[in-house]
Amino acid sequence: MTDRFSFDDFDEARSPRAETTDFDRIVASGLSRRGFLTGLVAFGSGASVMGSLLRGTAAEAATARFAFTPIPVATDGTVHVPEGYEWKPVARWGDALFSDAPAYDAAKGVPSQGADRVFGENTDGMELFNIGGHQVIAVNHEYVNPEINLPAEQEEKVKSEADVRLLQNLQGVTVMEVAEGPDGWAIVPDSPFNRRITHLTPMRLSGPAAGHELLRTPADPAGTEVLGTLNNCGAGKTPWGTYLTCEENFNGYFGATDVGAKLPEAFARYGIEAESVYGYEQFDPRFDLAKNVNEPNRFGYVVEIDPADATSNPVKRTALGRFKHENAACTLARDGRVVVYLGDDERGEFLYKFVSTGVYAPGAPTDALLDEGQLYVAKFAEDGTGKWLALTPEATGMTAAEICIHTRQAGSKVGATTMDRPEWVAVNPRAIEAYCALTNNKNRGVKPNAGGDETPVGGPNPRAENHYGQIVRWYPADEDHAADSFRWDLFVMAGNPGVHKDAYAGSSNINAGNMFNSPDGMMFDQTGMLWIQTDGEDSNEGDFAGQGNNQMLVGDPASGRIERFLTGPKGSEVTGMTFSSDRRTVFVGIQHPGGDFPDMAGGLPRSTLIAIRRTDGATLA
Ligand code: FEO
Ligand code: CA
Ligand code: CA
Repeated sequence: MTDRFSFDDFDEARSPRAETTDFDRIVASGLSRRGFLTGLVAFGSGASVMGSLLRGTAAEAATARFAFTPIPVATDGTVHVPEGYEWKPVARWGDALFSDAPAYDAAKGVPSQGADRVFGENTDGMELFNIGGHQVIAVNHEYVNPEINLPAEQEEKVKSEADVRLLQNLQGVTVMEVAEGPDGWAIVPDSPFNRRITHLTPMRLSGPAAGHELLRTPADPAGTEVLGTLNNCGAGKTPWGTYLTCEENFNGYFGATDVGAKLPEAFARYGIEAESVYGYEQFDPRFDLAKNVNEPNRFGYVVEIDPADATSNPVKRTALGRFKHENAACTLARDGRVVVYLGDDERGEFLYKFVSTGVYAPGAPTDALLDEGQLYVAKFAEDGTGKWLALTPEATGMTAAEICIHTRQAGSKVGATTMDRPEWVAVNPRAIEAYCALTNNKNRGVKPNAGGDETPVGGPNPRAENHYGQIVRWYPADEDHAADSFRWDLFVMAGNPGVHKDAYAGSSNINAGNMFNSPDGMMFDQTGMLWIQTDGEDSNEGDFAGQGNNQMLVGDPASGRIERFLTGPKGSEVTGMTFSSDRRTVFVGIQHPGGDFPDMAGGLPRSTLIAIRRTDGATLA
């Protein structure tokens, strides 16, 4: 694996390959850069999409909404927060969750034996649960960097079953109790809540696809029990206090020992190929497509975990569709039905919404709420309106189970809008509106997605070869998240006003003091401020000159104002955040840092969950 790539970037670099790459044809259809400029005139003159940004001038009074002094960009190897705030590590790759865990070695990392007793690598989405007064964090470990987990001479592929087990045990999810003492927050070792969920943990498949023939394997002829959850990216929290972990680039874990093995046609849309990232298939036949061709159909789902019961079985909720799930943003419709917004992070893939059949009632059974319901996909119109298209058997010609397994193909059949890589969705708790980070898409206006769907410049994806990204916002009709239509605008177009004077400079709420690229993680605080994390280019050169390391910013939905709150260490992605119950601490994830972060003692870089507090002890939000 390429050093210091986010797994998103790595997956983007290798797959999936578009079925259609006829550049000439696309130029002829007006999607060239010239075509883009034509579109830009319409964008700048019109329209509803810019409407919200104009609100900025009317809302400078929102200054009071920012309780910190914004910080400049950084290019160094550590974390920076505003004056009056402090940060400390809480849990680093290799830190013990149990007193019998193996010791972390500053030179060699985590030993193979007992790797499922420590905090895993590459922290990502997280949520905090207050369980009877205990602060319990569930946090994802998206992937591993083989170059720091395996001996250097192995060239990033496993060479034994022990290597495979080490990597499998360092990914997945950690559930851990944390407590605040005189020296700050720390893991509570041996807490009954502590748990590691890995690539080997038994879990149940539920919903329309459970038991379908495409989910049956020699080890599980019923198609209802699966081992492990893969590439756990973003997260979500249900109203009933469970954790949702989202399987993203699961395709990269599967390979074929017989490279000539014929793979099902449907694999191409998901980038499932004969070559894997880590080489699991060489020593674990479950990941060998030549022997277990249905195994990849059992990944790519949203998985529900009960953080209050360390013995509970996680459940893969197939009703929420199978794709490269970023996160799962839950809210309630006016009538109490559960609404979950879901992004599919791939160039030109779609934005989805699930609406439950039943309503949520505190204390009532919740097991069917994420199994029975309707999945929709978003279609945006140029005029600032949009529709949620129901993925039904009638609309797609597919069965309910097939829709949940080949969800991307179902979205293509109804003509969903190809998006600039939908990352996190966040729902504003203070207004009936939701936001999705469209991180970037170098293929916008250049080539279709892997299903052959065109990627025209326009609507919520207004720039060709989009290296900066934007955040789209929608307002559900009737102020009801269950409604099948919405209005939309752009909250921000990231860009670089120091390099560009056109649309690549960004929207009017971007300036030399707050610029960034590639918005990814997003979460609202309880006051209705939007926290934005980036996973982008941190070269600080060329198109990205002056943008420094990846960072975390705070945006005000009312004014459009955005200010920088945190900068991450060189090489890292800032991803995942959650607040303590007393709102005095925000926990933030630093993924794949470079250098020797956070120990700064010359050892290996360690992905780290940090805690940020105000030095005066006041609440953050
Ligand atoms: Fe794992 Fe698309 O971020
Ligand atoms: Ca992400
Ligand atoms: Ca990303």
